[in-house]
Amino acid sequence: MAIAGGIAAYKGAELVRLLKKQGADVRVILSRGAREFITPLTMQALSGEPVHTELLDESAEAGMGHIELARWADLLVIAPATADVIARLAHGRADDLMTTAALATAAPVAVAPAMNQQMWANAATQENLILLTQRGIQIIGPDQGEQACGDVGPGRLLEPAQILQALQSRFSSRQLDNKKVVITAGPTVEAIDPVRFLSNHSSGKMGYALARACAEAGAEVTLISGPVHLSPPDRVRLLSVTSAIEMHDASIQEADGADLFIGAAAVADFRVSNPAREKIKKNAQPDLTLTLVENPDVIAAVCQLARRPTLVVGFAAETSDLLSHAREKRVKKGLDLVIANDVSDPHTSFGSDQNAVHLIGALSEQHLALASKQVIAEKIVSILAERLSEPAAASS
Ligand code: C5P
Repeated sequence: MAIAGGIAAYKGAELVRLLKKQGADVRVILSRGAREFITPLTMQALSGEPVHTELLDESAEAGMGHIELARWADLLVIAPATADVIARLAHGRADDLMTTAALATAAPVAVAPAMNQQMWANAATQENLILLTQRGIQIIGPDQGEQACGDVGPGRLLEPAQILQALQSRFSSRQLDNKKVVITAGPTVEAIDPVRFLSNHSSGKMGYALARACAEAGAEVTLISGPVHLSPPDRVRLLSVTSAIEMHDASIQEADGADLFIGAAAVADFRVSNPAREKIKKNAQPDLTLTLVENPDVIAAVCQLARRPTLVVGFAAETSDLLSHAREKRVKKGLDLVIANDVSDPHTSFGSDQNAVHLIGALSEQHLALASKQVIAEKIVSILAERLSEPAAASS
């Protein structure tokens, strides 16, 4: 938890107390400005841990240095966050301990702004906040009302209890407690010979973000992944596969009786019918003809299982006629829901960290605007969890 310099810093102290009461281990970073309002001694007494103040301080680096601190946290919350901190976060600055920790952590970051209403309304602040939101940083508040400077308007730090509630709803929704979820992700790789293959540009980021969001919502998650350059999220069981056939076989086995199956993988439609056992030599033949045979449709096969998952959700990555192709795909494959995204748009193409999607069900459709893949994943998971809690609505 980091506290920036502002009159609302005392509410940050109260938030530390509330987090401790909930059983959280809290380490406090106090900016130089914050130390004008509250003392490290107060925060040490409240958190029961040494307080971190400087980026490069010999004694701190000998204990828990700034990178260790960033790794230690499951969540970094900055409350209050001043306009200056928000600007520095937006630009990836690392000029003090707080912003360095925000840059160096893989944990979710939440920011509770507090500032004068005119500073809040300033286009610079608003644009910085959009950047932070797009990167998946949670913005909590601010509140409206009378300000310390005498102005009235938006910019007051939310009450600590409200900030706590916002953090709890994000990090332990438990919406998928006791649910078994299977997700496919990444590309498949189809051998031509022992050194060459056919594949595609899927990065696996969307499937991995969904796996993380499902695990955070309490599900037991199995992630069946083609080759990608990503680490599996915590508390997710990873099954690594290579080809479409392997992904098919693993999916059939794992999806049997599951509550939710999400097909986020870009499965190769074809494989080489007879991959060469030895490396194909350049001079052996003037032309090379590869015969391709169709791969099984993994998600359609999952829909045919006797113990079909309650909800089966597919993706439709399209470059034209997004919605009509996605609607057709939903019906043809027997899916409950299709998540359609436009891969011709550079903001949402393969490998991007952001996405914008349409959720297409039998009776309703919904658009989720451009945001980080993690934020989109959390929204999708929340919608799916709601559907799972009302079985009759599964195919709406
Ligand atoms: O037909 P298309 O490849 O566009 O369909 C995309 C959806 O179907 C995705 O959910 C993808 O994971 C799934 N799929 C599959 N097996 C295939 C092809 C696609 O599970 N062989």
